[in-house]
Amino acid sequence: MKTKTLILQPTKENIALCAEELRNGGLVAFPTETVYALGAVATNAVAVEKVFEVKGRPSDKPLIVAVARKSDIDNVVKAVPQKARVLIDKFMPGALTLVMKKAECIPSVVTACGDSVAVRIPNNEIALKLIELSDSPVVVPSANTSEKASPTLAEHVKDDLEGKIRYILDGGASEIGIESTIVDVRCDPPVILRVGGVTVEQIESAIGHVETKREDVKLSGYMPSAELMFAAYCDGMERNITAKYDEITARGKSAVICCLDNNVGLYNGRTVMTVGKDYTEYAHNLFALLRKADAEHFDAVIAEGVNPSGIGSSLIARLIKLSGGYII
Ligand code: TXA
Ligand code: MG
Repeated sequence: MKTKTLILQPTKENIALCAEELRNGGLVAFPTETVYALGAVATNAVAVEKVFEVKGRPSDKPLIVAVARKSDIDNVVKAVPQKARVLIDKFMPGALTLVMKKAECIPSVVTACGDSVAVRIPNNEIALKLIELSDSPVVVPSANTSEKASPTLAEHVKDDLEGKIRYILDGGASEIGIESTIVDVRCDPPVILRVGGVTVEQIESAIGHVETKREDVKLSGYMPSAELMFAAYCDGMERNITAKYDEITARGKSAVICCLDNNVGLYNGRTVMTVGKDYTEYAHNLFALLRKADAEHFDAVIAEGVNPSGIGSSLIARLIKLSGGYII
């Protein structure tokens, strides 16, 4: 029988209901400050297997584990290296995930059979309360199906997971809008595996030099009906964008330009969607705009490139991944 999926307001009662669902081996979607998470009790291998099934996620891609308190980190890892302590003190709760050696209590299905576990503490009261009441660490992959952008609204989760889970806690729009930064702290210097909400500059100001590993771009990672491309950040970027837009529309296809508020005038009446006034707002709005462009059946989405520093680097990493590396 198909499950009915309910979007619940985050009242005390509803959070308790969702915690019970988790304790009983169910899955619950809930807000975090980065993107919405699809939670299950991390120590329950059967529940975690359901997460892979519901997301359509390959079993070789490990899940992040969330805890509610700094002291709980010691329960899910074997040891916390010194630099990890500094990062935990400085950035947790927050958009930072640390990879460390896993403790026995974390089943191998969570870590894709690896001996490390990625851990974070979400900076969101609803998430923290839910994890606390679940009496366990909770896996927190993004609550989208594998081919979609991460959800930043409860409705996005419903679009992807309707009929597959019972409850979605509604916490409004995700504050940051892109995923956490992942740092492997098992080596020194630590290695950034994914740039996200906490910037490389912030991390380096806390612990000094870190290495950056290029993320693998899976060309089939995201398949919207619209084709996404983005412009290399340079002087005269808008000329490349308008040329591409005109080329696409001349072929009878529809296109939309995603641009900063201040740049609307550069595109002379062509169809645009504004991403906000700065890069922080761009990050906050990006995933929701891509879902909107998809729902409105645009054939092409042309996004402005950004200056690759701070949150700009995290934005570029998302644009590369979601576009399959289609740069104009
Ligand atoms: O902001 C976030 O981190 C969101 C919120 C919902 O918590 N979650 C998220 O999860 O982005 P997901 O599953 O969409 O992406 C997790 C990433 C994957 O690229 C996975 O390969 C990596 O984390 N990962 C998980 N465990 C790992 C580990 N032990 N070592 C290296 N990478 C790991
Ligand atoms: Mg994801």
